[in-house]
Amino acid sequence: MGMRGTVILLLAPMILLTWQAASQNSCDPGWFGSLCQYKCRCRQNKCAANGVCTNNASCEGGWFGPACQYADLAFRSYTSARWQSQDGDDKTCLTSSDSDSITVKLNKTYHFSWLRVRLSNPDLLYNVTVYFRRDNSLNCTNKRTSRVDNTTLDIHCDLHAKVNELTLSGAGVPHLCSVYISGGRNLALRQNTTQSSLYELFATSDKAVDGNTDKAYTKKSCSHTEGGKDYPNLNLTLSRPQHVTRYVIYNRSNRRDRLKGFVLTSYSQSLTPVFNYTDRKASAQLVYTVIADNVTVPTYLVNVVATDTREKILTLCELEVYGESACPPGQYGRECEHTCNCAGDQSCFVSTGGCSSGCAAGFQGEDCMTRCDPGRYGLGCQSSCSQFCVRDNDTRTDFCNNTNGACLYGCQDGYQGPTCTEGTSLAFNHIQN
Ligand SMILES: *[C@@H]1O[C@H](CO)[C@@H](O)[C@H](O)[C@H]1NC(C)=O
Ligand SMILES: *[C@@H]1O[C@H](CO)[C@@H](O)[C@H](O)[C@H]1NC(C)=O
Ligand SMILES: *[C@@H]1O[C@H](CO)[C@@H](O)[C@H](O)[C@H]1NC(C)=O
Ligand SMILES: *[C@@H]1O[C@H](CO)[C@@H](O)[C@H](O)[C@H]1NC(C)=O
Ligand SMILES: *[C@@H]1O[C@H](CO)[C@@H](O)[C@H](O)[C@H]1NC(C)=O
Ligand SMILES: *[C@@H]1O[C@H](CO)[C@@H](O)[C@H](O)[C@H]1NC(C)=O
Ligand SMILES: *[C@@H]1O[C@H](CO)[C@@H](O)[C@H](O)[C@H]1NC(C)=O
Ligand SMILES: *[C@@H]1O[C@H](CO)[C@@H](O)[C@H](O)[C@H]1NC(C)=O
Ligand SMILES: *[C@@H]1O[C@H](CO)[C@@H](O)[C@H](O)[C@H]1NC(C)=O
Ligand SMILES: *[C@@H]1O[C@H](CO)[C@@H](O)[C@H](O)[C@H]1NC(C)=O
Ligand SMILES: *[C@@H]1O[C@H](CO)[C@@H](O)[C@H](O)[C@H]1NC(C)=O
Ligand SMILES: *[C@@H]1O[C@H](CO)[C@@H](O)[C@H](O)[C@H]1NC(C)=O
Repeated sequence: MGMRGTVILLLAPMILLTWQAASQNSCDPGWFGSLCQYKCRCRQNKCAANGVCTNNASCEGGWFGPACQYADLAFRSYTSARWQSQDGDDKTCLTSSDSDSITVKLNKTYHFSWLRVRLSNPDLLYNVTVYFRRDNSLNCTNKRTSRVDNTTLDIHCDLHAKVNELTLSGAGVPHLCSVYISGGRNLALRQNTTQSSLYELFATSDKAVDGNTDKAYTKKSCSHTEGGKDYPNLNLTLSRPQHVTRYVIYNRSNRRDRLKGFVLTSYSQSLTPVFNYTDRKASAQLVYTVIADNVTVPTYLVNVVATDTREKILTLCELEVYGESACPPGQYGRECEHTCNCAGDQSCFVSTGGCSSGCAAGFQGEDCMTRCDPGRYGLGCQSSCSQFCVRDNDTRTDFCNNTNGACLYGCQDGYQGPTCTEGTSLAFNHIQN
C-alpha cells in the first residue's frame, strides 16, 4: 500500500505536465477549434485541427459543408427519386433515364436558406431549378449560386416563408448525386450555461451542450436540477451574434412527465424577450424541435424552464441551437474570422466564403482562397499563362502570376513584356528571315 502511494505521488506531477502541454494545442478527441468548441463530424472522428476530414474521410451522415458543420435537413427524408439523392452518399447518382424533376419532402417545416447539389455531369451544373411547393408557386427568390468545384453548386434563396417540400427540375436533375439542405450549424456546443440548482455532481448544466445526445441519465451526459425547487431552469449564453432559426431539445428517455409544458424564451443582451415557445403537445416527445423566428441579437440568452409542478425538475440531455454566424459584410466563417475574396469586392456567403459574383481574379475553390492551378490565371482561372514564360521544370509550380498572368521567371528568348506575349526585335528579325 505504502509503496503504491509513493509511486502515484511521483507520477502525478509528470502526468499533469504532459496533459497541460497537450491541451494547449490539441483538443479532446472528436473536437476542434481555437477553444475546442466544435464537434468533429467526419466519419470515425477523422478531423484535422481545422475540422476538415483527413484521409479522404467523408462527413458523418446528416452533416455537410465546411468542416461538416452544417446539419442536412434532407438527410433520409422522403424523395420521389427512384434512388435516394439525400442518402449523404456522393457516389450514388441518378442516370440519364431518370425524370428531370424530383421532389424532396422534409420531415418538418423549416426556414430555408441554401442547398447544395452534387452532379455527375459538370456541364449541367447550372441546369437545376428550385421550387418550394408542389404547384411551383414559391420560387427561389433572389437566387444566387456559388460553384464549390466542377460538380458541386450551392444555391441560396431569400424566402420569407417556412417550407417542407422542394422540387428540383431541369436538365441537370437526371445527373444528381446528392442534395443537401442546410439546417445551419449547432451554435450551442460548449457555450456558457448555468442552471438553477444541481442534483448529482455530474449533472451540471454544461452536460446540456456537450454534444452528447444520449438520453439515458445514467450515462452522465444530461443536466439535472435538484427536485422540489420552484422555477427549475437552465440558461445558455451564445458568445457572439448569430441568426438563430431552430432549437432541438433532447428529453430524458425515462421519467416521463418532467418536460411537459416547458417554456423556452430567448432574450437579447438587454434581456428583452425576442422569442417565446411554450410546449402544448398533447403527447410526450423524445426530441422536441422548435422553429424560431429568425432574429439577430448581439448576445443571445436561451432560457428553458420546466413547469411541471409535481417534481419541479429540469433535465436536459441536450439543447441544440441551430443557425448561422451574423458576420459584418465582407467577412465569413464560424467566427467571422475570414475576409471574402470575391470578384468586384462583393460580399460572400457566411457559410462557405463562396461568392455569387465569382471568385476574385486568380482564385478558385469553395471559399475562393485557392490559387489557380499552375499555368492558369485570371477571373475564374479561365486564362492560360503564356507559353513563352520561363518555366520551372516542376510542373506543380506556378510560372505566371495567378492574378494578372505576368511571367514569374521572365520570358523565353525572343519574347518580352510582363506576360511574354510581345516578340523582341530579335524574334521579329527571326520571323522576317
Ligand atoms: C484520396 O483519394 C484520392 C483520389 O481518390 C487518392 O488518389 C488518394 O490516394 C486518397 N488518399 C488517401 C490518404 O486515401
Ligand atoms: C427524417 O425522418 C427519417 C425517418 O424517421 C429519419 O431517418 C431521418 O433521420 C430524418 N431526417 C432528418 C433530417 O431529421
Ligand atoms: C435569417 O436572417 C438573416 C438576416 O435577415 C438572413 O441573412 C438569413 O438568410 C436568414 N436565415 C434564414 C434561415 O432564413
Ligand atoms: C443549361 O443551362 C444553360 C444556361 O444556363 C443553357 O444555355 C443550356 O441550354 C442548358 N442546357 C440544357 C441541356 O438544358
Ligand atoms: C415562379 O417562376 C415561374 C417560372 O419562372 C413563373 O412562371 C412563376 O410565375 C413564378 N411564380 C411566382 C410566384 O413568382
Ligand atoms: C474540373 O474542370 C477543369 C476544367 O474544366 C478540368 O481541367 C479538371 O480536370 C476538372 N477536375 C475534375 C476533378 O474533374
Ligand atoms: C464564458 O464566460 C466567461 C466569463 O464571462 C468568458 O470569459 C468565456 O469566454 C465564455 N465562454 C464562451 C465559450 O463564451
Ligand atoms: C437565467 O436568466 C434569466 C433571465 O435573466 C434569469 O431570470 C434566471 O434567474 C437565470 N437563471 C439562471 C439559472 O441563471
Ligand atoms: C419526454 O418528456 C415528455 C414530456 O414531459 C414525457 O412525457 C416523455 O415521456 C419523456 N420521455 C420520452 C421517452 O418521451
Ligand atoms: C414572451 O412572453 C412574455 C411573457 O408572456 C411576453 O411579455 C413577451 O412579449 C413575449 N415575447 C415575445 C417575443 O413573444
Ligand atoms: C530544367 O531541367 C534542365 C535539364 O534537366 C536543367 O538544365 C534546367 O536547369 C532546369 N531548369 C530549372 C528552372 O530548374
Ligand atoms: C501578382 O500580381 C498582383 C497584382 O500586381 C500582386 O499584388 C501580387 O503580389 C502578385 N503575386 C505574385 C505571386 O507575384
